[in-house]
Amino acid sequence: MIDERWEIGSEFDWREEFVTLDGPCHEWPSPRSLFSSGRAALLSLLRQWSDAKARRTLHLPSFFCMEVAATLATVTDLAWYRDVPDQEAPDLDTLRAEPGDLVLAVNLFGRRDGSLWNEWRSRNPEILVIEDHTHDPFSPWAQESAAPYVWTSLRKTLPIPDGALLWSPQGLPLPSPASSPSHGSNDKLIGMLLKGLYLKGACISKEEYRTLQMSGEDSLAKETDSPVSPFTHAILNGLDIPRMRRRREANVREFNRALLELPQDRCAPLFTSWPEGGVPFNALLVCKDEETRDELRRYLIGEKIYTAIHWKQKGEPLHSQDPEALSLSQRILTVPVDQRYSCEDIHRLVEIMGRGLVRSVGQGAMQR
Ligand SMILES: Cc1ncc(COP(=O)(O)O)c(C=O)c1O
Repeated sequence: MIDERWEIGSEFDWREEFVTLDGPCHEWPSPRSLFSSGRAALLSLLRQWSDAKARRTLHLPSFFCMEVAATLATVTDLAWYRDVPDQEAPDLDTLRAEPGDLVLAVNLFGRRDGSLWNEWRSRNPEILVIEDHTHDPFSPWAQESAAPYVWTSLRKTLPIPDGALLWSPQGLPLPSPASSPSHGSNDKLIGMLLKGLYLKGACISKEEYRTLQMSGEDSLAKETDSPVSPFTHAILNGLDIPRMRRRREANVREFNRALLELPQDRCAPLFTSWPEGGVPFNALLVCKDEETRDELRRYLIGEKIYTAIHWKQKGEPLHSQDPEALSLSQRILTVPVDQRYSCEDIHRLVEIMGRGLVRSVGQGAMQR
C-alpha cells in the first residue's frame, strides 16, 4: 500500500501474498456444502428442517446481527436467549427451547469455547444445535465440534469475495446449493481486484470499486440458496490460513497492549483473553456511551480508518428485547486489525486514535 492511500478497514482487497505455494494448509470437513453466503447456507438448512405441520422455533443469542435475524425470520419463528459478549459465557438458563426446536450457538467474536454448549447439548439431545463459527472458523471448538451442524461464513475473515461452509459432524443430511451462482460474487471479486490496484497507487477510481462492492454485498445479502463462486471454490485450498490467523491474533494483542497507553476513560477493549488456539474476530472496543462511540467513529472515518458496528439493535425492525444486549450494542465498536495489517499499521492506528482521544478531553467533541 502506498502511503497516500493508507487506510484501515472496509472490504477486503485481493492480495497474492495470502496464497501459499506449499499445498493445502487446511483439511476441510467432508462431506460439506459450500454456499455463496452464510445466509444462503443457513436458510437452506432451515428449509430442510422446516415442517409445515409443526413450525420449529430457532433460538438466537440476544447479541446478534439483526439483519441476519430478520432474514431468518422469513422462514422460521425466532426466540432469544441471553448471550452478550461482555459477559464470560452465555446464560443458558434463559434458553427455553422445546424438543424439536433449533438453537444457534455462536462463538461471539471468537471469545467463547464450546464447553458449556457441549454439556448443554448432552442434556438436551432432542434439540438441534447449530454452531455459528463465522468469527473464528478455525478455532479448536469449530475443528473438534461434535454438534449436529456447524456453519461459518468464511467471507467475513478470509479475503475472498464470497463463501460459507456448512457441515455435520454427526453425519446428518446436508442441503445442496442451487445451481445458479450469485451475481454479487462477481461484483465483489472485481471490487477486490480493483481495490488492490488502487491501494498500490493505480489510477483507479475509489468510487467505481466501492459501487461494485456495495452492489455485490446487496445481492449476496439477498441470496437464499446460491453456491459458492468458482473463484472461491478454487482458491480455498491455496490460502495461507495459518499465516493469516497468526497475523490477526498478533494484531489484536498489539492493539490491546498499545491501547493501555491511551486515556482509559472513553473506551477500553471488550476482552483481552480468548481460548487457547483461538483467534479473535478483530479488536473490539466498548465506549463510555453511544455519543462517544459515534464521535470516535466519525473522527476515525476522517482519518481513513473504517470501523464497524457489530451490531446495532436500536432502531432496527427486529431486536432481542434484552436490555443488556441493547446497552452493549450502543457502545461497541469493531476496529479491523486483520491479516492485511502489519505491526506498524497497528501502531499508526493507535497513535491516530490517541490524538483524537487526547484532543477531545474536556471539549465534548472529537474533531480533526
Ligand atoms: C456471526 C455471523 N454469522 C453469520 C452471518 C451471515 O453471513 P453472511 O453475511 O455471509 O450471510 C453473519 C453476517 O453478518 C455474522 O455476523
